[in-house]
Amino acid sequence: MPKFPPLKTLAVFFALLPGPLFAQTANENKLEVFSWWTSGGESAALDALFNVYKQRDPGVEIINAAVAGGGGSAARPVLQARLAGGKPPDTWQSHPGWELLGQYVEPGFCEPITELYKSNGWENAFPKDLVVNLMTADRKIYAVIAGIHRGNVLWYNTKLLEKNGIKVGDQLTLDQFFAACDKLKSAGIPALAVGDSGIWASAQLFENTLLGVIGPKGWSDLFTGAMQWDDPQVKEAMKAFAKMQDYLNPDHAALSWDQAINELIEGKVAFSSMGDWAYAEFLKAKLKEKEDFGWVSHPGTAGSFVIVADAFTLARNAPHKEAAIAWLKTVGSKEAQEAFNAIKGSIPARTDIDRSKFDGYHQWSMDSFAKDKPIPSCVHGEAAPASFQQAFNDGVTAFMVDKNVDNFANALVLAAKEAQSAK
Ligand code: GAL
Repeated sequence: MPKFPPLKTLAVFFALLPGPLFAQTANENKLEVFSWWTSGGESAALDALFNVYKQRDPGVEIINAAVAGGGGSAARPVLQARLAGGKPPDTWQSHPGWELLGQYVEPGFCEPITELYKSNGWENAFPKDLVVNLMTADRKIYAVIAGIHRGNVLWYNTKLLEKNGIKVGDQLTLDQFFAACDKLKSAGIPALAVGDSGIWASAQLFENTLLGVIGPKGWSDLFTGAMQWDDPQVKEAMKAFAKMQDYLNPDHAALSWDQAINELIEGKVAFSSMGDWAYAEFLKAKLKEKEDFGWVSHPGTAGSFVIVADAFTLARNAPHKEAAIAWLKTVGSKEAQEAFNAIKGSIPARTDIDRSKFDGYHQWSMDSFAKDKPIPSCVHGEAAPASFQQAFNDGVTAFMVDKNVDNFANALVLAAKEAQSAK
């Protein structure tokens, strides 16, 4: 039975790595920050982070090494090549869990920043579960979280729904969702906006739909190997995902995720299932909460919070180590967490922030984070090793063409076995 090893078991590998190397700090006053935040909303939020940094550390020139492509699909290979070639940026965006620990810490690309947690009081300011379990190896902490996104949000264009006599309450079942889709379809309106020129966006639609069918217990069973990827419930989710294909915007394959959100903003499409980085696009377009756009948990996923957290690392041999440490201190500061997350759509990871500085969506998400079941995202690299994440994306690509449930399920069963035996 395939079973992913718990993250903690990675610790044995770290013990074998040589201790951190201390880079010779270059004299230039520069800092290179690597991310994939290039959409209108994402870059506005990144700028907010840069601004806080510049106020705290004036005189450092920031090199914004962002590589376009939502979900990091284009950025991560570029980053891997740079790391393997010994040319790291000073700091880069990473998701906690398998991505951070498996792809960057285990091969020795990161330097621990445990000391920053001690000297800045972060041990108490950040939730232990996220820090300790998902960013720690061999009792060393390797990143600081800038914000926590909720992946399982279904956004909608309020006016378009009203015009078509569709009401969305506090929760939505899959049946209610499909009923709304049918109503829109008969009015000639594509119900669901997807921008899957990067396949991760459709993989995320499947991830959310899968969670809606199997629930949080099923999710944990799948990723520990207690449930198989060809389980009848998983197949049911695949069928629901196949059905959703009948309601997509016809140009979905040509669009990026933010272009799809733009179709929703323009009232061409009614819904979009997207992490709450979409909120940043609504804000940028000056849309008003509730009046212009609304949200609900992706059908069937109320009570779960799909975590897509963004953390920053310290490169081993960082070319500008001092500036990078100052950057991480900024990222972890209350001031930056408030400024950045209000724009990015994520919620601060710090628990001591001023809630009144945030609007309705953020209040909703903070409440959800406090009471709902945390679910690590597979599409965003937290729940499983990179090889499985890739197989998941490939499976979705093939399934969107052949709609063959057995092929899809078997491919995932095989990928889970391979991921397990590789460890
Ligand atoms: C996620 C990332 C978010 C957002 C999104 C779309 O992987 O965590 O911050 O940028 O991709 O690009």
